[in-house]
Amino acid sequence: MDLSEYKIEIVLSEAEIAVLERVDGAASKLTVAINPLDLSAPIPVELAQTASVLCVEVNPQSRQSIARIAALRAEQPDLPIIALVREADLSLVRALLRQGVNDVIELPLSIAQLTESVGDLIANRKGQTPRNHQKAGKLIAVVKSIGGVGATNVAVNLAATLAAQGDDRACLFDLDVQFGNAATYLGAAAEPSLTELLEGGARIDGDFLRTVMSVVSGGASFVPAPAEILPIEAVDEAQLRRVLQTARNEFEFVVADLPANWANWTLSVVAQSDLIILVVELSVGSLRQGKRQLQLLKSQGIESSRIAVLVNRVEQRLFKTIGLDDAAKVLGHPVQFHVHNDYPLMSAANNQGIVVADLNKRSKIARDFARTAQAVSEMAVQAAS
Ligand SMILES: Nc1ncnc2c1ncn2[C@@H]1O[C@H](COP(=O)(O)OP(=O)(O)O)[C@@H](O)[C@H]1O
Ligand SMILES: [Mg+2]
Repeated sequence: MDLSEYKIEIVLSEAEIAVLERVDGAASKLTVAINPLDLSAPIPVELAQTASVLCVEVNPQSRQSIARIAALRAEQPDLPIIALVREADLSLVRALLRQGVNDVIELPLSIAQLTESVGDLIANRKGQTPRNHQKAGKLIAVVKSIGGVGATNVAVNLAATLAAQGDDRACLFDLDVQFGNAATYLGAAAEPSLTELLEGGARIDGDFLRTVMSVVSGGASFVPAPAEILPIEAVDEAQLRRVLQTARNEFEFVVADLPANWANWTLSVVAQSDLIILVVELSVGSLRQGKRQLQLLKSQGIESSRIAVLVNRVEQRLFKTIGLDDAAKVLGHPVQFHVHNDYPLMSAANNQGIVVADLNKRSKIARDFARTAQAVSEMAVQAAS
């Protein structure tokens, strides 16, 4: 792709210009213009009107530098905007993305990173109407109280039930980079995987994404976890954000199975999510850890309305030790969904590499997932609006 035909306008304070990497004209594929501007000054209208992509410095210390982004977006709904931030913390990144910024890049500015981001923005725009935030697919993150509660099965079956509603409705990412086993449950090849996408740099677009995806049992398009165990911190947060954004341009629902451990990038994924499903079991250990997970999510500024609790493996017994009401009380959060316990069916489905609906559509758990998917799609749409 020839990026030189696009005009990249960069707005930086004098302090950041002083430490800017020297742009070697021959080495850079971009046509870049640097515009010195005070952090508190509004963005000149001409600049916003003539830029193909506008990169604007944001400093959390300067309220005006954040406010001018909102003003810019309001005036230029279709302009690709990249925020440039020094030591961006997660809540700021989240706030910026919510204001409609298309990407966030860390300062000091690296031309390589800028080239990657611009390439991605322009590729995503080709042949389609400008990216409309209302139209973006919904991101649904599946997290768990502790390993073994059935989160992967929830993610897999939920994605399948959402996918059953039409072509390109749903895709599934196995982001459990160390213990991901969704591919096994789905009878899918282990490669290509998330690794190709994380290493794909600026090549990430809808077509590239689909070369990595395979359509699995139930009809969802699936990206397996890396075949080799990655150190949890090795995932590049910005690259993954681009990958997920691309997926949201292609699918109505993007389901992500997250690891049990938190890292910066997993917090970023939940921050970007329209809905977070916390999977727990009715055991003391799982509920206790579930409560801690909820506290963590809330401490990240995630509203309760974006979190749904799913209790898995519910027994239908006359005398229950812990019921759904007790779970809600312990968690301090309502229990929105539950899935029954059916180990024979679930393990048969897992062993055959198919989703439960493909094994027995009329089973209780298949119906549980169908009901959950219906409510999840409604919740995700509501949370996003
Ligand atoms: N609703 C269920 N009923 C019975 N067994 C289940 C159910 N959900 C999951 N399991 C079983 O629990 C085990 C762990 O499931 P998995 O989805 O891999 O958990 P996690 O991803 O939370 O570690 C698997 O053996 C699976 O078959
Ligand atoms: Mg799992």
